[in-house]
Amino acid sequence: MSVTPVPEQENVLIFNFGAQYAQLIARRVRELHVHSEIVPPTTTAERVGELAPKGIILSGGPASVYQQGAPGLDSRVLEMGVPVLGICYGEQLLAHMLGGRVGPGQTKEYGRTEIEIVGPSVLFAGLQRHLDCWMSHGDIVLEAPPGFSVTARSANSPAAAIENPQQKIFGIQFHPEVSHTPFGRQLLANFLYQVCGCKGEWTARSIAERAVEQVRDQVGERARVLCAVSGGIDSMLTAALVARAVGERLTSVFVDHGLLRKGEREEVVEAYERHIGPNLRVVDAKRRFLERLRGVADPEQKRKVIGEEFVAVFEEEASRLGPFEFLAQGTLYPDVVESGGGVTARIKGHHNVAGLPERMQFRLVEPLRNLFKDEVRRLGEEVGLPESIVWRQPFPGPGLAVRIIGAVTEERLETVREADAIVREEVKRAGLTREIFQAFAVLTPVQSVGVMGDQRTYRNVLAVRAVTSEDAMTAEWARLPYEVLARISNRIINEVPGVNRVVYDISSKPPATIDWE
Ligand code: XMP
Repeated sequence: MSVTPVPEQENVLIFNFGAQYAQLIARRVRELHVHSEIVPPTTTAERVGELAPKGIILSGGPASVYQQGAPGLDSRVLEMGVPVLGICYGEQLLAHMLGGRVGPGQTKEYGRTEIEIVGPSVLFAGLQRHLDCWMSHGDIVLEAPPGFSVTARSANSPAAAIENPQQKIFGIQFHPEVSHTPFGRQLLANFLYQVCGCKGEWTARSIAERAVEQVRDQVGERARVLCAVSGGIDSMLTAALVARAVGERLTSVFVDHGLLRKGEREEVVEAYERHIGPNLRVVDAKRRFLERLRGVADPEQKRKVIGEEFVAVFEEEASRLGPFEFLAQGTLYPDVVESGGGVTARIKGHHNVAGLPERMQFRLVEPLRNLFKDEVRRLGEEVGLPESIVWRQPFPGPGLAVRIIGAVTEERLETVREADAIVREEVKRAGLTREIFQAFAVLTPVQSVGVMGDQRTYRNVLAVRAVTSEDAMTAEWARLPYEVLARISNRIINEVPGVNRVVYDISSKPPATIDWE
């Protein structure tokens, strides 16, 4: 399935000269209700013509324009009459291509910098004359190209903003997409609404309608779709959109591998039946998984066993309930965009379909393929999924198995499941659910001495882990209030048999990881 939006939708293309910059710009543009799509720098003028964007943004990036092999741009793109905004490397590239001069600055500017507006510009409409912004560069534009005026400068950048309003080409040295440029949102809004003439039609409702329409077109009138749901927002929203498109021709499978959190199965089934539809098949595979996990202590071995067993169960169900032509998956945009801005899908997570054997041939339906996580959450709310699903914390595919250090037994599962429920309950009660990325319990293989009612005890040490994070790539241990930690510890020791000591994990990622295994 292509990420190309249907033509009547207004769209802005982000040329990707450095992956993180491009993704952040794309998100900011979408927050201003304009659809944006990341494309590689090699995108030709013909392709741009097909995509018919309202505007083009050239992202920042780590290269120097005069280095050999530095990424360039099809020069015909600048002659199409489509408004262009170059940011940092993007500005330097424009200057370089159009006859200006780029070189290393006297001093590198990194971090907060003040710029002064020195000429009238629609980009700075409604803004003060002196502005704080965030810069991060070695090179600068030393001289604007012929036909361009300089509209802002800083102590070290004589051309911090340049423009040719007749040709609708603009360049800025600073980064409007980062939160440290407080006026960045206004500047991008000026570009999108005043220069490009966008209307701002990219809203949760329009995204949902469009996604449903696309699924309907793709699947057609008769084909059947299979979906594996885990209870997470991505798979639940995928199922919800597909169900709206094809109704009862969608069948979802939820595998209870016995490694779920307390009450999770009931919650998922209830939410599915109430908000999505009737066709959910719940497979109780607890025995099978426990049997295969017996004596397995190595984390990667656990993952492998669970992955294989998941595929086996899923395949059995698919052939029992099938045939299905399509498989629906919750792939998101960041999984699709590669560093070069290409659009090859990488299927992740062994708990979904990554490991499906080749004989299971499906065509993929991926209604979230165009969306960032925050958009997925907003869309989940729009289609009426409950808060417990929309704001569910990430949970690893192998479940509680990777939160029991050492071999998994029924008894140890029960211990970690009860403790985990207490951790989550107390975090929720303290009103911290949305601030905390993940909060959970880990059952360590350590036993320690304690005393309860004059009796010596020798029981398990349980670790509590809570982290804040944007995207799980890095994480900071959460500064939970002492009172919350005290309640968690008290309740676990009093309510969970077999635990006499609770410790709090105060490691960040890196160098630690979020989950212990
Ligand atoms: P780590 O522990 O590597 O985890 O910092 C990053 C995020 O991924 C989750 N996680 C997993 N998710 N299968 C998954 O689907 C796994 O095997 C797995 N291991 C860790 C983890 O909970 C965190 O959100």
